[in-house]
Amino acid sequence: MTITLKSPLDMHLHLRDGEMLEQIAKCSSDTFAGGLIMPNLVPPVTTLDELIAYKNRINKATNDNSFKPYMTLFYKPEYNYDFLKSFGDELTAVKLYPAGITTNSEGGLSGFDIEVMRGSLEAMSELGIPLCVHGETNGFVMDREAEFSSIYAKLATNFPKLKIIMEHITTKESVDLLNKFDNLYATITLHHLLITLDDVAGGMLRPHLFCKPIAKRPHDRDALLKVALDAHPKVMFGSDSAPHPKHAKEACGCAAGVFTAPIALIALVELFEKHDKLDNLERFLSANAINIYGITPLEKTITLEKTPYLVPEKFGDVVPMFAGEELSWSLTSITKGDNA
Ligand code: NCD
Ligand code: ZN
Repeated sequence: MTITLKSPLDMHLHLRDGEMLEQIAKCSSDTFAGGLIMPNLVPPVTTLDELIAYKNRINKATNDNSFKPYMTLFYKPEYNYDFLKSFGDELTAVKLYPAGITTNSEGGLSGFDIEVMRGSLEAMSELGIPLCVHGETNGFVMDREAEFSSIYAKLATNFPKLKIIMEHITTKESVDLLNKFDNLYATITLHHLLITLDDVAGGMLRPHLFCKPIAKRPHDRDALLKVALDAHPKVMFGSDSAPHPKHAKEACGCAAGVFTAPIALIALVELFEKHDKLDNLERFLSANAINIYGITPLEKTITLEKTPYLVPEKFGDVVPMFAGEELSWSLTSITKGDNA
């Protein structure tokens, strides 16, 4: 049994920089045709020069032309129309982090005063640049995303022409918002389709499953699964693959992030097959993102077959999800089209 997927896209990806980028970039470029690259470097990506230089480092690290990095800028309320326009096609989206809410987000936004944000968000609406949002408050950890619903509602109603992507949603409340506001969309990770808080902390603590937002309750996971398996037109795959070196995960003070890039495609095929929904996988993995972002991805076809794959213990210095475990599908071939 085989399956062929056309131009899979990972619309929320942390590729890091320097040595880490060199170690892990090929984990994504081997199996995806492109990815939306998160800007939370130290310091974050906030200028055109930084964005282009980072894009060039990514292209060098992936070492071929069949993976397109869709670049993002770290949101600042002072961005204006002329500044954002100057990015032209180099910029795919702007990513908003509440200050201090996750890895490398210290320079993020404090408070959601619509008037402070108005100039930048109206400029983005006019230029057709989507706003990607890490939607968590600094409340109680299990409630942070649900508490953010009112901020999503405020943004969606004040900026009706702005495409707002609720990144890595983990709750039923967020799924429900998709049908309430025309301009809200979402990415969903692999791990939030598979695990709940029980898998992270219900038994022995599993640091490699610890991430922001933290995995929630079974009914939340079920709500996410339903829209992902049905390839709801407003949801896209975004792995939020977030590599940290082994010593930073297996530590007192574990860094947040699950590293899924090398196994994401295989595990998604396994999951969709289990639920008899393989026919919808290509929409979740590329067609929906193509429609939402209006992009034309590189032509790249990935074929997988149903033979077991033993997940390596480490990629470089990073432990992947399912390390040392067997998945039921393997990659067999990658075909690059004329534009890849
Ligand atoms: C991400 C990281 O490590 O950059 N961590 C995470 O737990 N998901 C940041 C993020 O997307 O929140
Ligand atoms: Zn992320």
